[in-house]
Amino acid sequence: MSFEPGTLGTPLSSGATRVMLLGCGELGKEVAIELQRLGAEVIGVDRYENAPAMQVAHRFHVVSMLDAEALRKVIELEQPDVIVPEIEAIATEVLAEVEAAGNVRVVPTARATQLTMDREGIRRLAAEELGLPTSPYRFVESLEEMRAAVEAVGIPCVVKPVMSSSGKGQSTVKTAEDIEKAWDYAQKGARAAASEGAAVRCIVEGFVEFDYEITMLTVRSVSGTVFCPPVGHIQVDGDYRESWQSAPMSDLALERAQDVARTVTDALGGWGLFGVELFVVGEEVLFSEVSPRPHDTGLVTLVSQDVSEFGLHARAVLGLPVPQPATIGGDAVGQGAAASCAVLAEGTGVPEFAGLQDALAVPTAQVRLFGKPTVDGKRRVAVALARGADVDEARARAREIAAALQTRLV
Ligand SMILES: Nc1ncnc2c1ncn2[C@@H]1O[C@H](COP(=O)(O)OP(=O)(O)OP(=O)(O)O)[C@@H](O)[C@H]1O
Ligand SMILES: [Mg+2]
Repeated sequence: MSFEPGTLGTPLSSGATRVMLLGCGELGKEVAIELQRLGAEVIGVDRYENAPAMQVAHRFHVVSMLDAEALRKVIELEQPDVIVPEIEAIATEVLAEVEAAGNVRVVPTARATQLTMDREGIRRLAAEELGLPTSPYRFVESLEEMRAAVEAVGIPCVVKPVMSSSGKGQSTVKTAEDIEKAWDYAQKGARAAASEGAAVRCIVEGFVEFDYEITMLTVRSVSGTVFCPPVGHIQVDGDYRESWQSAPMSDLALERAQDVARTVTDALGGWGLFGVELFVVGEEVLFSEVSPRPHDTGLVTLVSQDVSEFGLHARAVLGLPVPQPATIGGDAVGQGAAASCAVLAEGTGVPEFAGLQDALAVPTAQVRLFGKPTVDGKRRVAVALARGADVDEARARAREIAAALQTRLV
């Protein structure tokens, strides 16, 4: 390390604390803003120009982070003190190399980025090494193997490429007729497209009839581990649409959720915020997956906590203490709940937002417009945020804001 924990430099000077963000989406943008507030020098890297976090970084580079040579070069050029991955699709072997060379901190650790970029790595760690409860699962590499796996796991089950996120390539097998469709869909939806005819490895997971699902935002820092209040959420097509905090839970389920989160984050190690995704069935808590970085469902913490998940991440990765965040709840401090509602745009063009007057007239309303330069397909372009006396009121307000916000592609 070229800097001592508890010591920070001045940006753009020789003593700057340089942080390189790998991935410059909307979550990275909030992390960059928090790092800027602490006087870090922020360098954005992503594969396209003017990505959201690039717009608030000191400077940026347009690089494919799956290209090991290009990634190595940009790290060599910038000599960052800390590397903060914001996405999974990274040539993580380069992170392992630079971490081993010893002059940069990879967040949370290079090994954690490697294990979590692949559903197989993290699932085997959680279920087989740590003994955490999960859905039943099998890994498959052909249609024949998948048929056997569906037999073993049972119908309904969920099929996902091992390398994918945001629900891409993911589908549910409800009858034996769905198996082939699910296989084909996964082959097309995987992140690293099957290289010249090689099949994409998939996980087949038993479908969990959960009562609800939560994200346990967990921060590991120099001061130990702290948990944010549980974030409840709803996913459509494997992608988050609404989240709220605090998700109502029994004391026992909450305790178990924190135990699972602590076990898996301790195994991954390092400093930073993690989003531990959990399914709750009665009082049982099943581990689903974990992001070693701020989580999209945690956008709600922008209005629900005194320090958001992004602020907590920034502090942890800089080696600073992270105390338990205070919730700011409803209309009054310390009460109520908060919610977020994702705003999507579909089509092709440059986003434009109308209806902001109505949107921001909703009590407690806040929005974040991500500044994504273009949309091609379906993309999240903004988030609506609100507080309320309880979860229902906060969610109703967040939805009202999102509905008032008209997104056009021009
Ligand atoms: N085994 C399962 N049983 C029931 N529902 C599931 C199962 N696996 C996934 N889901 C549903 O699909 C959602 C997305 O799944 P998962 O988190 O594994 O995918 P992802 O592509 O990694 O998504 P993201 O990147 O947005 O977290 C879950 O939050 C849950 O709602
Ligand atoms: Mg997920």
